[in-house]
Amino acid sequence: MKKIIIVSSLSLVVIMMYSFSRAEKKPSGDILIPEGYRNWTHVKTAVNNPAFASHSGFHHIYANAKALEGYKTGQFADGAIIVFDVLESLPQKNGDIYEGKRKLIDVMVKNNSQFNETGGWGYEEFIYKDSLTTKALHPTKEQCFNCHNTRKANSFIFSSYRG
Ligand code: HEC
Repeated sequence: MKKIIIVSSLSLVVIMMYSFSRAEKKPSGDILIPEGYRNWTHVKTAVNNPAFASHSGFHHIYANAKALEGYKTGQFADGAIIVFDVLESLPQKNGDIYEGKRKLIDVMVKNNSQFNETGGWGYEEFIYKDSLTTKALHPTKEQCFNCHNTRKANSFIFSSYRG
């Protein structure tokens, strides 16, 4: 009897630990770093000056197939994902400026029912400590949506695809 109680309380602890670790990994909206986004369509690149602080350096924007369709039609369907990939720019060398380490990626995921309050888009930011360790920031509405909301007439998207 004693053994049964020990075993069942142990499994309860294991179940609790499991659910905590899952809760920590996927708190709001379940947005993860999209696998294979570097193979998606490259929408554009720009360089921001140091005044942009965390977002200074190169940024490349990538769209999955559904998002590319959205760029072309103006209508983004559920499942569209856009990645904003920020890398350091290194000091000029013989007139050339190269990319350095990845600093962060911002992700927008379209799901009208899940992200109804923010125009159907979910927002997440992943900070890179090194190329393997990332930290999800779980930004507030103020940190992402308020600015993208100024582009409401353009499906909340700033960039455009030139083809
Ligand atoms: C102060 C305004 C502002 C804030 C705040 C902001 N963005 Fe953006 N975002 C922009 C602009 C401007 C662009 C277009 C950059 C370009 O064209 O090179 C952009 C582009 C993007 C894109 C590519 C799609 C598009 O709209 O062109 C993604 C994805 C993105 N931002 C995610 C985020 C996330 C996630 C956050 C919050 C962590 C965030 N943004 C906060 C202004 C903002």
